[in-house]
Amino acid sequence: MTRSHGQDAPPGARRPPPLPGGAPVRLGPADIPGLVELERLCFAVPWNAKQYRTVMDNPPFRVFGLHHDEGLAAYLTLFASDFEMEILNIAVRPDLRRMGLGRRMLAHVLQLCRKMGIQRGYLEVRRSNAAARRLYEAFGFEEVGVRKGYYPDNREDAIVMRLEFETGQPG
Ligand SMILES: CC(C)(COP(=O)(O)OP(=O)(O)OC[C@H]1O[C@@H](n2cnc3c(N)ncnc32)[C@H](O)[C@@H]1OP(=O)(O)O)[C@@H](O)C(=O)NCCC(=O)NCCS
Repeated sequence: MTRSHGQDAPPGARRPPPLPGGAPVRLGPADIPGLVELERLCFAVPWNAKQYRTVMDNPPFRVFGLHHDEGLAAYLTLFASDFEMEILNIAVRPDLRRMGLGRRMLAHVLQLCRKMGIQRGYLEVRRSNAAARRLYEAFGFEEVGVRKGYYPDNREDAIVMRLEFETGQPG
C-alpha cells in the first residue's frame, strides 16, 4: 500500500513538508551540523561532529543523505575499500519513517557498490532493532554472527549481517 505523507496527523499538528524527492547525494563538511542533529534524534550513542569530520577526511568513507526542510531527512555512512564494504549507520528522521526513505538510501548505495565492483558487504545491528533488520533482510543481507554485549550503553548484542552482491536481492 502506498502511504501518503502526514495522512494521520492530528488536527492542529504541524504538517511536515513534502518528502524529499530524487536520489541521495554525497554529503560534505557543510552537512555536519545537520548530521549531528539527526544522530542525536536517532541514536542512543550518537556520533559527534569530530567523528564526521574524520570520516569525511578519509577517502574510503562516504556519507550520503537526502536534504529536507533546511536539514536532513536521512543519511547513510559507508566504508568501501577494494571488494568489501560496511554500512556504518543509516537513519531516517523519526517523523519521516515508514515512507520508503530508508529503502531509497540503501538501494542507492548498494547500486553504487555494484558499480564499484564490491563483492561483499557487512553491517552490525542491535538484536532488538526489528525495523533495521527487516530493511536489511529485504536487500539480501543475512545474519552471519553475533557479537555478545557489543553496545556499550546497554550491553545489547550486535547481529552481524552480510550481503553477497552476486546473490543479493534488489530490495
Ligand atoms: C531503520 C530505518 C533507517 C528504516 O527507515 P525507513 O525510512 O523507516 O524505512 P522504509 O520506510 O524505507 O522501510 C523499508 C522496509 O524496512 C522495514 N521496516 C522499516 N521500518 C519498520 C518497522 N518499524 N517495523 C518493521 N519493519 C520495518 C520494512 O520491511 C519496510 O518495508 P515496508 O514498509 O514495505 O514494510 C529507520 O527506522 C531508522 O532511522 N531507525 C533509527 C536508526 C536506526 O536504528 N538505524 C539502523 C542502525 S543499524
